[in-house]
Amino acid sequence: MTSISITVNGEPVVAEIDDRMTLADFLRDKLDLTGTHLGCEHGVCGACTVLVDEEPVRACITLALSMAGRSVRSIEDFNDDPAMEVIRECFSEAHGLQCGFCTPGMVITVRDIVQRGACVDAKQIRTELSGNLCRCTGYAGIVKATELSRDRLKAKSE
Ligand code: FES
Ligand code: FES
Repeated sequence: MTSISITVNGEPVVAEIDDRMTLADFLRDKLDLTGTHLGCEHGVCGACTVLVDEEPVRACITLALSMAGRSVRSIEDFNDDPAMEVIRECFSEAHGLQCGFCTPGMVITVRDIVQRGACVDAKQIRTELSGNLCRCTGYAGIVKATELSRDRLKAKSE
């Protein structure tokens, strides 16, 4: 066990961590932040996507220990995020989710690609979202929700 300090959702956290514990298990089991979902646990599906220093990261293949001194944001940190509020509305309107299992990781990725401007057209959106798998909705609604999010956030910033 090793003691580390991390910032999680804006709060300082000091914890004893097993050297092999993943960031996803740390968030879910130690901090009870269960909005970070675990699907494949092999870095393939994107369900576990969180932000580390504002970059999307797969929490299932990231060692919690490597987060020492860094800032982690899980889906629970976006309740009051203006961009995420718009993205949530657009996912609802465009039927971008069904069971919701992929949704925390999906919307964190969508927020990132919209903010980077990496969503010029549907083809680019599909490429950018290729690391986030959805088992039930299909991607038409998700792409539409991303286009809507892009357009509404752009209109708000003008
Ligand atoms: S659970 Fe992490 S990528 Fe699938
Ligand atoms: S909405 Fe069910 S896995 Fe995506």
